[in-house]
Amino acid sequence: MELHILEHRLQVASVAKESISLFTYGLIKLAFLSSKTRCVFSTLTHSATPGQYIVVVSAGGFIELPSSEHLSVADATWLALNVVSGGGSFSSSQPIGVTKIAKSVIAPLADQNISVFMLSTYQTDFILVRERDLPFVTHTLSSEFTILRVVNGETVAADNTGITNGFVKPKMVQRPIIHPLSSPSNRFCVTSLDPDTLPAVATLLMDVMFYSNGVKDSMAAGDEHDHDHIRFFSFSLIEGYISLVMDVQTQQRFPSNLLFMSASGELWKMVRIGGQPLGFDECGIVAQISEPLAAADIPAYYISTFKFDHALVPEENINGVISALKDSQAGKH
Ligand code: ARG
Repeated sequence: MELHILEHRLQVASVAKESISLFTYGLIKLAFLSSKTRCVFSTLTHSATPGQYIVVVSAGGFIELPSSEHLSVADATWLALNVVSGGGSFSSSQPIGVTKIAKSVIAPLADQNISVFMLSTYQTDFILVRERDLPFVTHTLSSEFTILRVVNGETVAADNTGITNGFVKPKMVQRPIIHPLSSPSNRFCVTSLDPDTLPAVATLLMDVMFYSNGVKDSMAAGDEHDHDHIRFFSFSLIEGYISLVMDVQTQQRFPSNLLFMSASGELWKMVRIGGQPLGFDECGIVAQISEPLAAADIPAYYISTFKFDHALVPEENINGVISALKDSQAGKH
């Protein structure tokens, strides 16, 4: 299997909801007028608890955002890794889910004490690593993968300098879940959209991204007893591919024939990981969650944000997943 290191140098930043108006000029350009930018990788996630927007953008997108004290930027440049099954570009790869890369990518990086930031999309799963960790990443994964680097759009062999970070992998890795888990009541879909049809839903998307309160709006319409919902919406435009993660209530606002769903039309429930903000240095959080899911062969998307991580699992699996994960929580042994 091939592992591609994409050439985009990414920044991870967050904006409090109250301050989003300072950035909408740039964000609208990135989402809807990307041909006017030099940005090829942008994602915008809105997570209402704790009322934040998270932006992950390549350098060409970052310059569209005003520098401001209201933009908190994680102090590192990140690179996206992408597992490509079979040859060809990532466009032809199958959506694989974080479950499929848990053993081959996520666990080895965690064993080597390398921090990741996960971004699953409808099309694929990106594993973000800090640029400065790249030599260690390449070394760690070179036994499993042919590692290729994208340089000026061409894939070339990545050099393995044989450098390690000196971290010695513990023999018996037990990976209890450290952070608290919660599961909101809403059901989510992971969908895509033909970029040519983006203009047709642009106003709706702007509303959803910046002016709606998600389920709270429909609660006003009578659905009062649902207190456990969270507001979570994610839009990404990566190398020309759009991916959207939204709850069912939001999805129902879209014209029915525009969104692509997987053939099974699956709905997903979320496990949110974290109580205190997770930060960017800690390793192994994604591994703690994805390894038990992989062992049970449960597909999952995984989206890291500034403060929390979010795993999406098929709704029929949520109860089993929660009890399995609770069993592996620290202190339960
Ligand atoms: N760095 C964590 C890991 O290696 C995942 C990201 C958690 N941090 C965050 N801000 N979401 O497992």
